[in-house]
Amino acid sequence: MIQIKDLTFVPYINEHELLEAVNTIAQRINADYKGKEVLFVGVLNGVFMFASDLMKHIDLKCQISFVKLSSYDGTQSTENVRQLFGLKESVEGKHIILLEDIVDTGITIDGLYSDLLKQNPASLEICTLLFKPEKYTKQVPIKYVAKTISNEFVVGYGLDYDGYGRNISSIYQLKA
Ligand code: IMP
Ligand code: MG
Repeated sequence: MIQIKDLTFVPYINEHELLEAVNTIAQRINADYKGKEVLFVGVLNGVFMFASDLMKHIDLKCQISFVKLSSYDGTQSTENVRQLFGLKESVEGKHIILLEDIVDTGITIDGLYSDLLKQNPASLEICTLLFKPEKYTKQVPIKYVAKTISNEFVVGYGLDYDGYGRNISSIYQLKA
């Protein structure tokens, strides 16, 4: 059990299980994009650990860049997604894979997805470490999901509660 501010969290997905799931996703991407060049676009801050472990297993010609968005306030998702800093690279004609730590309501990734689609990429897919299907409100398909989880709020492996917990090497969930 760990305590972060006012909340208690219990172990949920261990490091070994996480790294196996990340490697599996990387191998699927390697196979699907064989012979192609990919621009990965990671959503900061939460994606930093997932992106780092995933990229070590990618053997395609590729680049990675990051954007910073914000829609989450404490443990509640909000409708207002602000783009804090954008992408310098042009996405036109490129194969783009968006990298997220977690897709919850989908508001964050949906906004970014529509923005990038307008810039005519050759292809555009979403890859997320965690997916909460019961809370997903959007239509955009999430092609690569490392782990599907239930509704609980989680921290660790890049994910935070109020800025804390990102350094934990496995995933913890809010104690019921
Ligand atoms: P969405 O816009 O509702 O899909 O929320 C996506 C963003 O909210 C993610 O990129 C996370 O930063 C954050 N988020 C959603 N669920 C959780 C959670 O369970 N723990 C920590 N952060 C979360
Ligand atoms: Mg995030």
